Amino acid sequence: ATDAIDLMVNGRAARVAAPPATSLLLVLRNDLELNGPKYGCGLGECGACTVLIDGVAARSCVIPVRAAQGREVTTLEGLGTRERPGPTQCAFIECQAAQCGYCLNGMIMTVEALLRRDPAPTEQAVRSELHHNLCRCGTHVEIMQAALRAAQ
Ligand code: FES
Repeated sequence: ATDAIDLMVNGRAARVAAPPATSLLLVLRNDLELNGPKYGCGLGECGACTVLIDGVAARSCVIPVRAAQGREVTTLEGLGTRERPGPTQCAFIECQAAQCGYCLNGMIMTVEALLRRDPAPTEQAVRSELHHNLCRCGTHVEIMQAALRAAQ
C-alpha cells in the first residue's frame, strides 16, 4: 500500500506516494529526482546517501520516508547550484577532492553538518566526523584538505 507523504525538501514542499517503509533515499532519487545523495551500501555504513534532517547529517538509505515527514530535509542540491555552489561545495571543487566522486555527496554533507554546529572545528574534529564516510579511491588527503578549507 502507498501512503501520501508530505515532505519539505530544500525549502520546497513535496507530496509523494510511497509505501511508508520506503527509504528516504529512494524517494529523493526516484520521485524527486534529487540525485546528489548516492546509493552505496544501503546499510547505513558508507555515508554516500547522507542528507541533512533538521540540519543534522543522516543516512537516508536507512531512514523510512515516513520518518522524514514534518522535518526539514536538505540534500546536496540544497547547498548550492552548479552555477553558484555553496561554500562547502566550493572548497571541494577548489581542492579537486574527487577521484570517482561517488563518496563526495556524503563527505560534503557531513562537513556541512559539522560546520553548522561548529563553524571552526579542529582538524581532529573534522577527522572524527568523516571517520565513518568511506572512500574506495583513497582520496582521503584531498578530502581532508577540502574539509579544512571549508572550515576556514
Ligand atoms: Fe546509505 Fe551507504 S548508502 S550509508
